[in-house]
Amino acid sequence: MARKLIVGNWKMNGSRQANQALLEGLRAGWAELPTASAADAVAVAVAPPAVYLEQVGGLLDASEIALAAQDVAVADTGAYTGDISAPMLRELKVRYAIVGHSERRKYQGETDAIVAEKAAAALRHGLTPIVCVGETLQERDAGQALAIVQAQLQAVLAHNAAQLADLVVAYEPVWAIGTGRTATPEQAQEVHAALRVLLQEAGVAHVPVLYGGSMNAANAAELLAQPDIDGGLIGGAALKAADFLAIIAAA
Ligand code: G3H
Repeated sequence: MARKLIVGNWKMNGSRQANQALLEGLRAGWAELPTASAADAVAVAVAPPAVYLEQVGGLLDASEIALAAQDVAVADTGAYTGDISAPMLRELKVRYAIVGHSERRKYQGETDAIVAEKAAAALRHGLTPIVCVGETLQERDAGQALAIVQAQLQAVLAHNAAQLADLVVAYEPVWAIGTGRTATPEQAQEVHAALRVLLQEAGVAHVPVLYGGSMNAANAAELLAQPDIDGGLIGGAALKAADFLAIIAAA
């Protein structure tokens, strides 16, 4: 069985004190995980706000937990106020960069073209992009869910055709994010299978496809048991050590 990947996206949450407590809880609980759920079976990363990457990286030093950024700039350097580039993230030992999260698409106006460029920037510098795709409730109700997520992924695949081996995809139905309303395992599996077809066609069937959207300790096992769900991108439940560890244990 392939190794599952569980990523905690802290979004705009945390403080130096809260981060330290959360990571101490994670590191303490990690040792208690059943052997089959520990490093052999599950890869784990956390994505704190950029301002805390250095602190969290230091606290994770020599642990099994990798560091992820919540975003990455298109450009490597230059006059881009507020942006943080892939080379800068690499200096902080960041391994993954989330790109195209629906909150950035919605609040920062990120288009499929920008997301594709951000994935390219990450790949250019040895960061693994975690490319988020997902439909709104309106789009799902209109029967467009598969077409929307396929188009979102295709934009990234087409733009980065030469360097797709090191990629992660996350299916996050917008209507399930932070709402407590999770896609059923069958709904999620249907979309994951469709995304897998696109990855197969691009020659990278091995690329992990994570599910995100109100995944928690209670529903993780059933979602993660689906054949095309290779892990989770966790928001709210990643902010409490016990909840995040329970998801890791379920993986
Ligand atoms: O990046 C994480 C997702 O947006 C899921 O967030 O688990 O709070 O629904 P959530």
